[in-house]
Amino acid sequence: MLKYIIILSIFSAVQLVVASETLSYVAEPSQVYIAPKPANISTLLDFIDSRDDLSNLSKILREPAGFARAFDTAPTWSFTFFAPSNEAFEHTGAYFSSFATTPKGKWWIGNLINHHYVPNSKLTTSNFNTHLSRLQTASYLYINTFVHGSGEIKINNVATATGPDNLVTSTPSENISRSLKGVIHIIDRILDPSAQVFESDLPKVSQTFIAGSCSNPNIAYC
Ligand SMILES: *[C@@H]1O[C@H](CO)[C@@H](O)[C@H](O)[C@H]1NC(C)=O
Ligand SMILES: *[C@@H]1O[C@H](CO)[C@@H](O)[C@H](O)[C@H]1NC(C)=O
Ligand SMILES: *[C@@H]1O[C@H](CO)[C@@H](O)[C@H](O)[C@H]1NC(C)=O
Repeated sequence: MLKYIIILSIFSAVQLVVASETLSYVAEPSQVYIAPKPANISTLLDFIDSRDDLSNLSKILREPAGFARAFDTAPTWSFTFFAPSNEAFEHTGAYFSSFATTPKGKWWIGNLINHHYVPNSKLTTSNFNTHLSRLQTASYLYINTFVHGSGEIKINNVATATGPDNLVTSTPSENISRSLKGVIHIIDRILDPSAQVFESDLPKVSQTFIAGSCSNPNIAYC
């Protein structure tokens, strides 16, 4: 019985601590490892920060923990990023601006940014085609894509790649064909993961496997 009471009181103490903790990030420990960034490399973050038309994105990706640092590394993997322009942020409305500033809103922004990132595949306009196809992002959810008559990529039938095929993570001194790991397409609307429509009948854009994603083609939702 005594044991039970002790366990119970520890449990309530833990509950009390959990209940009184506000939703906030723990400060980053000082000894955390930071991958060295080669000199003269242009990272995804450098690209975003260098563009006036991406200033909203530059600000917003500094809200959820870790994104600015992750985007500032020189990756050894390929990637594709759909960068929402300031025009995209003009089409967000009151829900976005009120929710984005809350602690939970910051986590949601993290998911939102993940939904614009495709790891392990460098997809330039030539990798997309005129058939409506689907593509898996780092959120594990799908977006759909097609190239319309004028040659622009259209995503989820709403966003247009107004600034396609920007290559990053190069150093002038390096072998360019080897070092250009990433491609960025600037788009004019945000891709919202909560608005995903799962279209299993659409063909998939050819892409490299994303670790942790569903890989069994015999399961209908993979
Ligand atoms: C970086 O690039 C600039 C301009 O091309 C050059 O002057 C400088 O020496 C480079 N720095 C390194 C460390 O490669
Ligand atoms: C985008 O940036 C402009 C100019 O700084 C600002 O007025 C606007 O509120 C920003 N939009 C969002 C959704 O953060
Ligand atoms: C650059 O890298 C590519 C791909 O690895 C290779 O085929 C090519 O020979 C390299 N060129 C030079 C000048 O090193």
